[in-house]
Amino acid sequence: MKVGERYYRSIWHDKADRGSVHVIDQRRLPFAFEVMTLRSVSDVYDAIREMAVRGAPLIGAAAAWGVYLSFLEHSSGKKNETGNVYNAVISDAQRLKSARPTAVNLAWAVDYMTGVMKFFPDADALCRAAEGLCDEEAERSRLIGVNGLRVIEAASSMKGGETVNILTHCNAGWLACVDYGTALAPVYMAHDRGLKVHVWVDETRPRNQGSRLTAWELLNHGVPCTLITDNAGGHLMQNGMVDMVIVGCDRATASGDVANKTGTYLKALAAFDNGIPFYSALPVSTFDLSVDRPGQIEIEERDAGEVSTIDGIRIAPDGVNVSNYGFDVTPARLITGLITDRGICRADKESVLKTVS
Ligand code: MRU
Repeated sequence: MKVGERYYRSIWHDKADRGSVHVIDQRRLPFAFEVMTLRSVSDVYDAIREMAVRGAPLIGAAAAWGVYLSFLEHSSGKKNETGNVYNAVISDAQRLKSARPTAVNLAWAVDYMTGVMKFFPDADALCRAAEGLCDEEAERSRLIGVNGLRVIEAASSMKGGETVNILTHCNAGWLACVDYGTALAPVYMAHDRGLKVHVWVDETRPRNQGSRLTAWELLNHGVPCTLITDNAGGHLMQNGMVDMVIVGCDRATASGDVANKTGTYLKALAAFDNGIPFYSALPVSTFDLSVDRPGQIEIEERDAGEVSTIDGIRIAPDGVNVSNYGFDVTPARLITGLITDRGICRADKESVLKTVS
């Protein structure tokens, strides 16, 4: 994606310094566009945990580079036996996986990289593998855009070319992926093709990924959008102001249930009640075929301070109990379709397995 006159991905390897990987520090947006350099597996762990990098596909891509950086660290300098390096990287890989529990792309990417290391215990091979994983993730997002464009085109023609109003939650744009996005990829594509689109952007408390990141991305790309409070969507849907909902996904079960940022489920319920199509957009790397029931997905519980404060200022009385679940699961029965890089499939086991395997 372009920022100013320069083309960016959300993560890239430094060609001149093989021990450096660059990311955009998402904690600073929209107020500052800052590139951050990750030089060790600990840097990667911290960046994921502190959410300098976030969004399921990007977390996976960052973790892939984390395994590469771990290998570089453990294999350089002092003489190291291959077995020792392997064990040290596996231990780092386990820690990386624990940085955030819900987005399955993290474990998927780490397992892929340690699998490569098993057969090719070599820094160049791991560098190529991480680079390849990023390229594939970007291509998957592009294809999600191509496939999702069809539903926006259909809505546009049903409305005689009038503006298609799309509601989204959290940030599933290019910042959250390597490029293009998941939920936002079809929106960018529709806008670039000249279709009239407008996005309702949920602010997405408590971390405000909608107001801070999605609104910034859409404005940066020139897509008309309106920021709304998280609870406004139901009213908009009741009053015919939403044509479809498109959200991202952090983990999808084999049955088509979708874990995404807290509040997604409530949007799906409201969409269902109002007969509005509800789509989740995701690459095949976000399916976890080892689970087939919503309750089997681990839901991240985050720090109470994210709810009781905003930018360090308390907004709740001292001593109040706080609960902060980062994600919820939308059951398949509320989902109109899953927009994947391999096409749009129904949210049921048969269609999921046919699409993914
Ligand atoms: O906690 P976050 O900001 O990492 O949560 C991200 C989301 O819930 C996104 O919707 C999800 O990763 C979509 S994939 C681009």
